[in-house]
Order: sequence, then structure tokens, then C-alpha cells
Amino acid sequence: MSKLILKAIGDIDANVALINDLDLTVGPDEVLVSIEAAPINPVDFMLAAGTYGYRAQVPFALGSEGVGRVVEAGASVDASLVGRRVLIVPNYEQGTWSDQVVVAARNVVPVTDDGDPLQLAMVGINPLTAHLALTRYVDLKPGDWVGQNLGNSGVGQYVIALARHAGLKTLSVVRREEAAEKLRAAGADLVLVDGNDLGGRIAAALGENKLRLVLDGTGDATAGALAQAAEFEGTVVSYSSVTGQPVQVGLGDSIYRQLSLRGLWMVNWLQNASREELEKTYVELAELAAKAVVRADVEATYPLTDFRKAFEHARQQGRTGKVLFKQQ
Ligand SMILES: NC(=O)c1ccc[n+]([C@@H]2O[C@H](COP(=O)([O-])OP(=O)(O)OC[C@H]3O[C@@H](n4cnc5c(N)ncnc54)[C@H](OP(=O)(O)O)[C@@H]3O)[C@@H](O)[C@H]2O)c1
Repeated sequence: MSKLILKAIGDIDANVALINDLDLTVGPDEVLVSIEAAPINPVDFMLAAGTYGYRAQVPFALGSEGVGRVVEAGASVDASLVGRRVLIVPNYEQGTWSDQVVVAARNVVPVTDDGDPLQLAMVGINPLTAHLALTRYVDLKPGDWVGQNLGNSGVGQYVIALARHAGLKTLSVVRREEAAEKLRAAGADLVLVDGNDLGGRIAAALGENKLRLVLDGTGDATAGALAQAAEFEGTVVSYSSVTGQPVQVGLGDSIYRQLSLRGLWMVNWLQNASREELEKTYVELAELAAKAVVRADVEATYPLTDFRKAFEHARQQGRTGKVLFKQQ
């Protein structure tokens, strides 16, 4: 049995270790989960580097989400969980980059036995973020338009799929034609590649329509171009900045057209949602993932032992899908 541990905050490659002497003693309120798959997300690198909204205490068990089977349940836990597939709710307690892991029972949600474990392993973070972005800020109705940059990211792909499922329309901006073609082939409504006169091309593509909601994941000028096409008093939600820059919405749009800027961190929802709401949300998202209504492209899987190759691959520019650890 192995597990990846971060020994110090900083460069993940220099500070990660694969340890084998795991304590798998199951307490009364805990379950032992055999991990099927666990993704590598940008948040994991940010956590290791100390640039995330949560400061990890080292030694820190890495891996923010995943899916697995319960192999043992503590004395106070419903014994019928044994054998069930569970989603590990994103938390900073036990990590998921592990063969087996002891998890507090409150941090697991039983999900469908059907479906691709790789897709189910990715339900905890990005689909939830897309779901919250589409449901918590603007009362969207079928036919409404949502604009986003980072369209081919995991979050972006789930925004497109969940929007489509709800009858909403999406206009997505990406930075490569190849990524645009993939999204169009997957059923995205409008996809534009960043470049000259993006604002003009967005307006032309939308015609008479306005964006009711703009989602910013890049922190670059594409959010400003999308905001120009937002309705009067429309909403811009910032959930990430891959460039490290603050939201770039033009002054004229924020003052004269009274756009609202809101922030989204799914961790806040996780900390405040009732158990009932949390379970309902994850069970529904897992069902959609199992039926391939929502999905994110997978580029590669690695065993834990190949973690250095997996990290390198996950950081590669222009990769076409997610990289996950998968139990062999
Ligand atoms: N607020 C929250 O609660 C929350 C929740 C989940 C995720 N996030 C954040 O959302 C972002 C996306 O996460 P993910 O897991 O969906 O990512 P992902 O699947 O790994 O995709 C990364 C995306 O970033 C793009 N990208 C990277 N560097 C860029 C740059 N300099 N300029 C423009 N685009 C760039 C990539 O485009 P190419 O394909 O062209 O390289 C790709 O579309 C991350 O920053 C993550 O931390 C936030």
C-alpha cells in the first residue's frame, strides 16, 4: 500500500514522497476505501506551492478528490456501505493519491456502481464548480446565453455539458483551434478562439442575444471581451485566474452598464451545504457522469509509482485532457 505525501510547501517535485508504511486502522466513524481513480488537478499543484486559498499543513496527504470502494466500515458506520462505490468529498484531511485510504464517513458519498470510474473520480471538484456557477448567481432560463473563457478546461467542459442539459446556450472562448474543434464536436453551441477583435467576433456570433452570465477562469482580456456582450446589470463570476491577474472587466462596463462581479470557490459551498444538499448534488452529478451526460476528456492514467511522469504530463501545455492516477 502506498500514498503520496508532501513533505514541505514549495516545488512539488522536490517535496513529494511515496510512502509505504500506511496506518490503515479504521476508527468508529471511518471507512477504509480502496481508491479506483484520483485526478491530478491544478489545485493540487497550487496547494503544494502554497498559492492556494487553503494552506496545507505538512506532512500533507496529497490528492483532492477521487472514487473508490469501501472495504471496511467502522463500528458506528452503516455496514451496508462495505462494497459500495463512494465519491470522496473534496477535503484536506486524508488525501486520495493512495492505494487505500481511511476516510471519515462524513467525507464519502455513495454513488452509482455504473459508469466509468475515471469520469466518476472527477465529479467532486469541476462538475460541482460548473453546477454552482450555473445555479447560484443568475436565475437562468432555457434559451439564456452563458459566456465563458477557459472553455476546454475541465470546468469549461462541464459548464458546456450542464448548460446544454438545462437548455442553456454557451459561448466559449479557448486559445487553440484544435481545442475549439473538439468542443464543437462535443456539442458546444459557439466556440471562438482568442485573437484579434475577439469582442467584435463575440458580438457578431451572438447577434441579437446578450450573455446573462459570464464565467472567468483566465484573468486575461477575454473576460473583458465577454463582459462587453453581457446584458445590462449582467453578472461576471470569477472562479480562477490561470494568468494570476485580477478580472479584467472594462470600467465602462462595470460603471455604465452596472455589471456585477462575483467570486466562486466551491470550498465555501462544501463547508456550508447541509449533508442532504451535498449528497443530493453529488449523487445527481455522478448519475450524469455515469450516463456520459457530463464528461471531461481523459488524456492519460498512471499508477501511483509513476507519479513523477504523471505530474510532468499534467503540467504539459496543450494536453488534450485530464491526467489521473488509476489503481492497476
Ligand atoms: N473556484 C473554484 O472553486 C474552482 C474549482 C475548480 C477549479 N478551479 C480552477 O479552475 C481552473 C481550471 O481547472 P481545471 O481542472 O478545469 O483545469 P484543466 O482541465 O487542467 O485545464 C486547464 C486549462 O487552462 C488553460 N490555460 C492554462 N494556462 C493558460 C493561460 N496562461 N492562458 C489561458 N489559458 C490557460 C488550458 O488551455 P490549453 O488547453 O490551451 O492549454 C486549459 O483550458 C484552475 O485554475 C482551477 O484551479 C477553481
